[in-house]
Amino acid sequence: MKNVALITGASSGIGKELATIHAENGNDIVAVASNLSRLQDLRDELDAEYGVNVIIIAQDLTEEGAAKAVFGAVQEAGIEIEYLMNNAGFGGHGKFHERDWEQDARMIQLNVVVLTELTRLFLPIFVERKHGRILNTSSTASLVPGPLQAVYYATKAYVTSFSNALAGELHDSPVTVTNLMPGATNTGFVTSSGLEGTDMFSDLGSPVRVAKAGYDAMMRGEIDVVSGLRLSHRITLSLVPFLPKRLVLSQVREGQEVKAR
Ligand SMILES: NC(=O)c1ccc[n+]([C@@H]2O[C@H](COP(=O)([O-])OP(=O)(O)OC[C@H]3O[C@@H](n4cnc5c(N)ncnc54)[C@H](OP(=O)(O)O)[C@@H]3O)[C@@H](O)[C@H]2O)c1
Repeated sequence: MKNVALITGASSGIGKELATIHAENGNDIVAVASNLSRLQDLRDELDAEYGVNVIIIAQDLTEEGAAKAVFGAVQEAGIEIEYLMNNAGFGGHGKFHERDWEQDARMIQLNVVVLTELTRLFLPIFVERKHGRILNTSSTASLVPGPLQAVYYATKAYVTSFSNALAGELHDSPVTVTNLMPGATNTGFVTSSGLEGTDMFSDLGSPVRVAKAGYDAMMRGEIDVVSGLRLSHRITLSLVPFLPKRLVLSQVREGQEVKAR
């Protein structure tokens, strides 16, 4: 296998587009997600279109020991991973104290723990052999607190901080860590996270464009990339550190109130 990318959440949305871009360039893939039939469809599509090898691993990454199981499967098959794209993630709408705790615990497990553990498993190999790139899908949500998605925003703040810190630790290494921060993007995330009918998700960016921005930034070894955000939102986000916290909280809360489904 050649220039292999391990992509979590490759079965749909941004992850599927990352897989497609990687395949378009003639490279092979290990695609991880929980939905087996969507992974099989992806493998068949990319094989037919680009003739690349796609190994699929159907794994619910929120299960105990999932990251080690994925790493073990790759090692056992003798596959050398060149690119690690930690992209799988989900959100969840509602007031924290009213939400199902098990759902939020699973979210933390996937968005934070599994991303960190997969990085911990693969990064020493990348550093030792002096090549390899990591792309972590965070969110513009990482830049502000998120009333009505409190846990999700906090998980993404972790991803941005963690990814940027690793980039700092690797400043003298050819190994790179890139943090992708999409704005509201047209994927399954919107319905699975209960965000239909909110102002924030009324105008959605293209997952193809977001994936391309992330992929290109990873290839250039950039630290951060924001994609799929309207100019007005970019300007507002850049002003956040200077605005009163109550104003920021009310703006985000109002943007995430469900007005119509
Ligand atoms: N869409 C947005 O507006 C937006 C904005 C900012 C950041 N993001 C981030 O972008 C990333 C990709 O999301 P998306 O927008 O492309 O949404 P999506 O279409 O819902 O894709 C999510 C991917 O994660 C996988 N996944 C979810 N739960 C999983 C589990 N328990 N085990 C294994 N895989 C799991 C899904 O696969 P299965 O269903 O097959 O398990 C799917 O491939 C996420 O980290 C998300 O937080 C999205």
